[in-house]
Amino acid sequence: MIVINDVHKIFNRGKANQVNAVNGISIDIVDSEFLVIVGSNGSGKTTLLNLLAGSVFPDQGSIIIDGNDVSKLHDYQRSQWIARVFQNPMSGTASDLSILDNFRLAAIRTRAKGLSIGINDHFKQQVKEKIATLGMGLENKIEQPMGTLSGGQRQALTLLMSVMDSCKVLLLDEPTAALDPRSADVVMRTADKLITDFKLTAILITHNLKDAYNYGSRIIQMGEGLVTKDLDKKQKADLKQNDLFDWFS
Ligand SMILES: Nc1ncnc2c1ncn2[C@@H]1O[C@H](COP(=O)(O)OP(=O)(O)OP(=O)(O)O)[C@@H](O)[C@H]1O
Ligand SMILES: [Mg+2]
Repeated sequence: MIVINDVHKIFNRGKANQVNAVNGISIDIVDSEFLVIVGSNGSGKTTLLNLLAGSVFPDQGSIIIDGNDVSKLHDYQRSQWIARVFQNPMSGTASDLSILDNFRLAAIRTRAKGLSIGINDHFKQQVKEKIATLGMGLENKIEQPMGTLSGGQRQALTLLMSVMDSCKVLLLDEPTAALDPRSADVVMRTADKLITDFKLTAILITHNLKDAYNYGSRIIQMGEGLVTKDLDKKQKADLKQNDLFDWFS
């Protein structure tokens, strides 16, 4: 369970360009919840994710993960709980290294779930099997440098690597924004499947209202650093796609 308790984040405090990016947000996110966040540009969505990941620290308030107050922990100190996928497919993996070597690095870094750490054939076989579950045919390209893959392929592999961590919380900040519609669809379906299979708690920021409508078990809207709407599973299920568009009119 994640408890976000009256969290504030102000940038450039006291200066002419002061921004109250997060303005006192309190929400609880239960285990295995899949929370979708929508909201206009600059409403504080990424800042909230940064606060959860530990790349930004709150000025006020606290963040508790599974009973641990992580408010003052750096991002690397939170990696036992949290994995993150960014908008840019290039930021999750090393371009010059092969797919296999990227998985080796991930295994060493995170003591990945269900993966032995190693350089042997057993490890290679395990990686191939995991990659085959994506259904993209990439299991036959594991010696190929990551940089030769398309954005969608990289993003799917980044997702797979991050959910194989021992982590329980997956943060997705517009993971499909740089992808064409077909690749975006594959990546979203992959994310949804992995979140279900690994029983992850997930937070997805998206500007794609179709995805916001189709995925997730709860949806919030942010505006000016605050939560302006919060719909639970049943309320989200009752929501019509047009209602969601109306939120932005
Ligand atoms: N490091 C920073 N320094 C100064 N201001 C910042 C910083 N990070 C974010 N901001 C400001 O905080 C506000 C919220 O930004 P944030 O990136 O959280 O918005 P967002 O909802 O993710 O927007 P978008 O949909 O465009 O990604 C914006 O006004 C932004 O300019
Ligand atoms: Mg953002």
